[in-house]
Amino acid sequence: MRKQETALVIHGGAGFICDQEIYRVSLGVVLSSGKERLLAGDSALDVVEHCVKMLEDDPVFNAGRGSVLNDKGRVEMDAAIMDGKDMSAGAVAAVSNIRNPVCLARKVMADGRHILLIGEGAMEFAEASGVAMENDEYFITDARVQQWEATVKNGGIALDHSEVSRERKLGTVGAVALDSMGNVAATTSTGGLVNKKFGRVGDSPIIGAGIFADNGTCAVSCTGIGEHILRISLAKMVSDYMLIGGCSLKEAARETIEYFRRRIGGDGGFIAVGNDGEIAFEHTTPQMIYGYADRFGEVGIFDRN
Ligand code: GLY
Repeated sequence: MRKQETALVIHGGAGFICDQEIYRVSLGVVLSSGKERLLAGDSALDVVEHCVKMLEDDPVFNAGRGSVLNDKGRVEMDAAIMDGKDMSAGAVAAVSNIRNPVCLARKVMADGRHILLIGEGAMEFAEASGVAMENDEYFITDARVQQWEATVKNGGIALDHSEVSRERKLGTVGAVALDSMGNVAATTSTGGLVNKKFGRVGDSPIIGAGIFADNGTCAVSCTGIGEHILRISLAKMVSDYMLIGGCSLKEAARETIEYFRRRIGGDGGFIAVGNDGEIAFEHTTPQMIYGYADRFGEVGIFDRN
């Protein structure tokens, strides 16, 4: 059997990006590691989990360690993973003290009984499944406390990259990949919005909204305001333009972002990889930071202004 070309795209959020170099360096490390694993024959599913785990461990991103704070001054995180091979999925929402929410989502997927766990049930499942836990101090950085205090003073709820927090860090993280067996997979993980109401859940752990993967079409990971993305199931819309509309990945991505902008006035974006290895990135925000290793061996890390 001819070996399939591989492709990988990762993102560190869409928005206004100060100090781009920090994100470029971080994404570069994750991208090289993920690419190496894909080329060694690892599955797309393992590689997207690996990449997002690294992004969650890096405090410059709003996911895992370094997540933004909610209206109680606490970290609550959402994450999901989806395998395009059999369209199995796992997700967790509003969880605290889980070092890598993406790994817990993977455990939910492997368990197979449910797709999305929240609250006490998710914590009980986490303890039983043996994922790494951390105390509150691990997650909360000084920069996040300052960002939260400024947002509270302003009386608002803010995207990590909005004006009040523009000196701070970016939003959601995610990864999509095509492996050497022709399978696609996606992951998305986030701390959500600054000063969000506790218990609020965004698009990231909702299959079809913040994440989608189908070997018949593509894998997609979104970033931006969950309240916008949820209303049009943004990730699945890309797949639907391919499946129902007969579009290529790039055409589907353009149609989707145009609809998101026109119909919702949506603030966000997404990365995607097609089942043929084509890649796409679109956003309505001023910038989105992402890195890719495409099927032709080209590697890039940049944001498009
Ligand atoms: N897209 C991340 C969130 O709204 O929570």
